[in-house]
Formats: sequence, C-alpha cells, structure tokens
Amino acid sequence: MNTAAVRRRYGWVASIYDWANLEGLLYARARARAIELLDLRPGARVLDVACGTGANFALIERRIGPSGTLVGIDLTPQMLGRARARVARAGWSNVTLREGDVCELALGEPFDAAVCTLGLSVITEWERAWEAMATAVRPGRRLAIMDAGFPEGTGRRGAGPLAWTLGRLFAADCARRPWRLLERDAAGPASERFTWGWVTAAAGAR
Ligand SMILES: C[S@@+](CC[C@H](N)C(=O)[O-])C[C@H]1O[C@@H](n2cnc3c(N)ncnc32)[C@H](O)[C@@H]1O
Repeated sequence: MNTAAVRRRYGWVASIYDWANLEGLLYARARARAIELLDLRPGARVLDVACGTGANFALIERRIGPSGTLVGIDLTPQMLGRARARVARAGWSNVTLREGDVCELALGEPFDAAVCTLGLSVITEWERAWEAMATAVRPGRRLAIMDAGFPEGTGRRGAGPLAWTLGRLFAADCARRPWRLLERDAAGPASERFTWGWVTAAAGAR
C-alpha cells in the first residue's frame, strides 16, 4: 500500500485502534519486553518511530523520567491526535510529536535509543525507515523492534484470521518479518517470540 493510502487507512482506524488491535491478547507482553530491551536510563533521549496513538509512551516515560526526552513520529494526524490526548492526560511535558513520513523527515540530534512497534510491517518504504531509525541513534546505543508476522519457518502457511485482520484492517504485511533487519544490522541482537510465534520483540546496539 502506498504512503497516501496508509495515511488514509489510519485516518479512520485511529478512532478504533486502541481496542481493535487486541493489545492485551496479542502485543502487551512483547511491547513491554521490547522497551525493556532498550535498557533506558533516566534522562535518555528516545525516538518512537510510527508512534501511533502512543501505546509505548507510558513504558518509556517510566524509565526516562522527566529529565528525558521522547520524540514520537507518525504519518497520520488522527493517530497523533490520540497520542497528544494521551500525553495531555498523563501530564508528560517532555514529549514532542512530529507528523510526517519517517523516511523523509530530518530526525535532528542523535538519540540514545529508538523503537518501532508494529510500524515496519506497515510503512511503505520499511527498509528505508529502518535505516533512518538506525542512523538516528548514536553508535553503540540501543534499537528495538516489536512486530507481527508469519511465525519463522512457516512461510505463508501460517496465514489465518490473524494475518487476514492484520493485512485487511491494519494494512500490515505479515511476510516482511522486519526484525530480521535488526538481526542483520545490529550488534549483539536478541529476539524473543510471543503470541504463538506471531509476534517478535528484538533489540540490539547500533
Ligand atoms: C499499527 S500502527 C502502530 C502504532 C504504534 N507504534 C503501536 O505500537 O501501537 C502503524 C502506524 O504506522 C504509521 N505509519 C505508517 N507509515 C508511516 C511512515 N511512512 N512514517 C511514519 N509513520 C507511519 C501509521 O500512521 C500508524 O500510526
């Protein structure tokens, strides 16, 4: 799906996203693990690529504290609107939200860590997005990906209702397995599987 079509899709998905993605059943454990693997410290400067409605924010804020900085980037204004409301509700004053295609934005000062959860399976130019994310981080600092896809070793035989929903509703490509980019490029990569092998949390150093 091209970038304009992804933006249109998430424009209407935004209003149902936080319950329709079945977070508790499918992703909560893997998400928590991906953020844990970032090894964040108070004061860290963190990039959340394709941050959506801000599902990672509380996990990150808990670790970086008020002296840290969190920058969330997303393509879709309606998703960012939800993220902005979440930030306001929680009273975080160290979060900056930026609207745009992560492949096209200048990401600014280097980060201590970057994460992308359920984003690389959706972003049209996902390999470019990974490169942008990886180069935004200082050498030696941490990168993490959490994403869904066909379990390793199953090819497309793993296709079923979950793959159908991810593809049709959330515009996610289950064949990408974007954690393989991290396993290929990062130093000391570690990957863990969740949700019957459908969800992977992976992290390593730039
Ligand atoms: C499945 S949601 C994931 C949201 C959030 N990271 C999470 O874990 O719940 C995918 C998000 O990717 C965003 N997105 C898609 N293409 C993008 C791009 N090129 N640049 C930035 N964000 C993009 C969409 O707007 C959407 O919010």
